[in-house]
Amino acid sequence: MRRSTPPTRARWLAGLMTAALATGACAVVSLVAATPASALANGLAKAPPMGFNDWNSFGCAVDEQLIEQTADYFVSSGLKAAGYNYVNIDDCWLLKARSADGHLVPDPVKFPHGIKGTADYVHSLGLKLGIYEDAGTKTCAGYPGSLGHEQTDANDFAAWGVDYLKYDNCNNQSNGSLADYKARYTAMGDALKKTGRPIVYSICEWGVNDPATWAGDIGNLWRTTGDINDSWGSLKSIIAQNAPLAQYAQPGAWNDPDMLEVGNGHMTDTEYKTHFGLWAEMAAPLLIGTDLRKATPATLSILLNKDVIAIDQDKLGVQGQVIAQGNGTMVFNKPLKNGDRAVALYNSNDAAATMSTTAAQIGLTRSTAYSLKDVWSGTTTETAGTISAVVPAHGTALYRVKAVSDYRKFAPATTLGVTSPSSYTGADIGIAAGATTTFASTISDYGRDALTDVRLTADAPDGWSVAATSAWSAKRVKTNGSFATGWSLSSPASAQPGNYGVTLTASYAYGTHRPVAVTRHVVVQIVPTPPHGSVALSDVTWVSATNGWGPVEKDLSNGETAAGDGKPISIRGTVYPKGLGTNAQSDIVYYVGGKCSSLTTDVGIDDEVATKGGDVLFQIFADDAKVADSGKITNTSAVKSLTANLTGVTWLRLHVDPDGATTYDHGDWAGPQLTCS
Ligand code: GAL
Repeated sequence: MRRSTPPTRARWLAGLMTAALATGACAVVSLVAATPASALANGLAKAPPMGFNDWNSFGCAVDEQLIEQTADYFVSSGLKAAGYNYVNIDDCWLLKARSADGHLVPDPVKFPHGIKGTADYVHSLGLKLGIYEDAGTKTCAGYPGSLGHEQTDANDFAAWGVDYLKYDNCNNQSNGSLADYKARYTAMGDALKKTGRPIVYSICEWGVNDPATWAGDIGNLWRTTGDINDSWGSLKSIIAQNAPLAQYAQPGAWNDPDMLEVGNGHMTDTEYKTHFGLWAEMAAPLLIGTDLRKATPATLSILLNKDVIAIDQDKLGVQGQVIAQGNGTMVFNKPLKNGDRAVALYNSNDAAATMSTTAAQIGLTRSTAYSLKDVWSGTTTETAGTISAVVPAHGTALYRVKAVSDYRKFAPATTLGVTSPSSYTGADIGIAAGATTTFASTISDYGRDALTDVRLTADAPDGWSVAATSAWSAKRVKTNGSFATGWSLSSPASAQPGNYGVTLTASYAYGTHRPVAVTRHVVVQIVPTPPHGSVALSDVTWVSATNGWGPVEKDLSNGETAAGDGKPISIRGTVYPKGLGTNAQSDIVYYVGGKCSSLTTDVGIDDEVATKGGDVLFQIFADDAKVADSGKITNTSAVKSLTANLTGVTWLRLHVDPDGATTYDHGDWAGPQLTCS
């Protein structure tokens, strides 16, 4: 546990949301009538603010040079032209003490020309300057806070030419009541108003006191969660917390799921597109949090995507609402000013998912057809009504949808799906080395036009073989029809465990057009060979392992951050040389291929958090059946032993459930022993 607040609360919320999503059956959520609080009448932030903030990539290392170079870069890179205009300074810009007459003092080494000098420079480029303070006695990094000094500080900000204030919540001397939160944030809001300068007011109380329900009267935006970090776990948890708050957003008053991590290097391109695309769908502020001076073309192409920015900045000012969710997926719908809809199909799972909605469900007027612009590929297709996509793991399909009559200029919208009896983890297909398995492909047509002359082909890597076991061509696939092909796939005996690709291609013609082709990259995983005899499970190669904080550890407890940062596994004083250290929620999957008979293990919360907390459930799944369950185990529970019968089982999954909060959930699988033939 690195800090006690706010991450503790963020973890708690994240745990609740993850649990809710994991268990949630697929449900269609009806549209709730929006009852937003009346927005702050300062006329600012009519669209979500766009710009930069140094905190995510620089922490306390902010200075005049960084801010001015970033401003220069806004101009030279086209970011300014794309709408980014606030260049914001976060914590650590000032000296540790106020001046003798009670004013904040910009650090003269970091800001030799003062905040005024920096503001003048930024303004000279046609951009705006933001700054950071705190509704407490000190900022989070220990610099003087504004509590009790609101008017003095607001006056200085205005005199320096500040255009935006992020107002934090550390060292707040609060009794935690809503009245106190409102009072502290109102005090600064009133002080800003009195200055007469238009200053966007960003409330940063981390979502503690449900700010969505009150902060719109006081500020222009409010953080809805604890701090983001550059990891998939953080992104997924923040999306789950911010998505349900759509009804509270409106022009001048926005939910703020925190600044962008796009470009910081610890997420994949797919995840960064989910991040940026869903921030736009949720009408969130787009505050770049990376070192732009080192931004790659891939980063810039995300940040500069005009279609995505247009969705975020749309004049109607409605946050996309979740209209269906379940099994780790969410369908968002954002009405746009010109009558179009922005639809996001978000898949938080570790495997691809086929997701759909319809033009009727997103409330578009009846039309012969609809055009679907895929904002990432830039291609537009037409649909008779179904909006469907095979969404990759952690990915989001984002479409701008419009009612059209002249659909013939677009290719029909199709999906190319894959199903396999042997997929269990993140891959589409699981197969042992030297084995043969089957899978099926399905090409579906959602377009108003039929597909004609449909042909399927598959390509496997060298040494593999793939062949159709049923018809691979069809004369015609009509609107809302589909065509399935069976395939047989064999892997070479020499294949090493890991992921491989099979490329499926469907080509078809439509209307009077020439044939087009769509491809699907099918992820095929070579699973590790099951062990022989009785072995320590921590010596067996897993197929996949996911964990709440830090990676799953072998023969160590979970230290929450880097690999190998745990301690020897110990439960109620018993030390185990072998085992797996996790932090809920965690899932570890093994391929046992019908070759193993049992697993025995002790379980418990590690002694390293014995005096702090922790509350989990240890569960063992054999294929999809739960075969052992510890019941509630806390930091004071005695060691418990579990045994699972694995006869005839292909996949073994060890699950540690957070049982609510994720705080201190250091769950150990202590001395697990697997018996195989
Ligand atoms: C946190 C805030 C962060 C950053 C940091 C600075 O409370 O949520 O976004 O501003 O303080 O110390």
